[in-house]
Amino acid sequence: MVTAPLSALPAVQDRLELVDAEVHRLAAGSAVAGMDAAVRQLLATGGKRMRSVLLLITHRTFGGGPSGAEITAAAAVEMVHAGSLAHDDLMDAATERRGVRTVNADYGTSMAVMVGDRLLARAGQAALSVSPQVAGELIQSLVELIEGQVMEMTDAYDLGRTEERAMRSISLKTGTLFRSGCVLGGLTAGVDGEDLDRARRYGDRFGAAFQVLDDLLDLVSTTELLGKPVGNDLRQGTYTVPLLRALRRPELAWIRDVLAGGGREPADGQVEKVLAALKQDAFIDETLDHVRELAGQAAAVWDEPGATGRDYSVLRKLPLEYVSWAETLISR
Ligand code: IPE
Ligand code: IPE
Ligand code: MG
Ligand code: MG
Repeated sequence: MVTAPLSALPAVQDRLELVDAEVHRLAAGSAVAGMDAAVRQLLATGGKRMRSVLLLITHRTFGGGPSGAEITAAAAVEMVHAGSLAHDDLMDAATERRGVRTVNADYGTSMAVMVGDRLLARAGQAALSVSPQVAGELIQSLVELIEGQVMEMTDAYDLGRTEERAMRSISLKTGTLFRSGCVLGGLTAGVDGEDLDRARRYGDRFGAAFQVLDDLLDLVSTTELLGKPVGNDLRQGTYTVPLLRALRRPELAWIRDVLAGGGREPADGQVEKVLAALKQDAFIDETLDHVRELAGQAAAVWDEPGATGRDYSVLRKLPLEYVSWAETLISR
């Protein structure tokens, strides 16, 4: 299992293994052999399970005991995530994910659509088996995730894309599933009202910080470290928050002309040139400061006056801890 080394992990490690087993049990096992192999390939090396970690820690924080509901709920969130990745890799024409070949690369377009569909459908069944409220919450986040992805598509290659629009898209495509993790952790622990609302806002903000960091890593990490192709956002015309901020730097402003010149088919050489220029300390450090600010906004939810009576320390430190670990994936 690949997980980010967060201090909260040991407390939920055994639960995470149960989530993993549940994901495999529910997602694999299709009677159609080819599909089963493709699903297993996508799930084989796992991911960081950030959404499950959040769900399990939120559940614990709110005093939830081990009932099994939180395991099924986490498996459902993880399957929506994996299903959306199967579709995302197809849309991004990506050949590698989690260090292995993508479903679209090895099995083709149609299978990637079906594998994504299967995971989303199985996620819906799993969530419904917990409760209609859990299913409603998760399915709503999927509706928003789709809107975020479509917004990214419609903004593709638009050098006039604003940072606000980029933030809106990532809040929809990534914030929503982080939010679901936290809300489902709260729901399965039996909380409602303001507690649930805080879990919701925390997940949203954490997801936004997480995605801006992922967007930075796409520009300044390596394919080996990430297990997915770097520079793909540039190739696909996804002008992310870090890139839009880079364009505002006088010494990097020329990148705008390179991207405009490359149009919808930027040459490899152009992408390489831009990536090389972005490996620049001032740009990287300022973007990391921005990410830490967003992570801090997530943590701050637990310092609101109404957040009393529970120990929120683990949730509070998680976003910045994640940022510190992910920084090690940067290649300067
Ligand atoms: C990838 O998510 C998609 C984004 C929202 C950036 P993760 O980085 O959580 O992917 P895995 O599950 O760890 O592989
Ligand atoms: C995809 O974002 C987020 C989803 C909702 C699937 P990215 O396109 O940045 O994810 P990666 O970088 O391919 O993992
Ligand atoms: Mg992608
Ligand atoms: Mg990315």
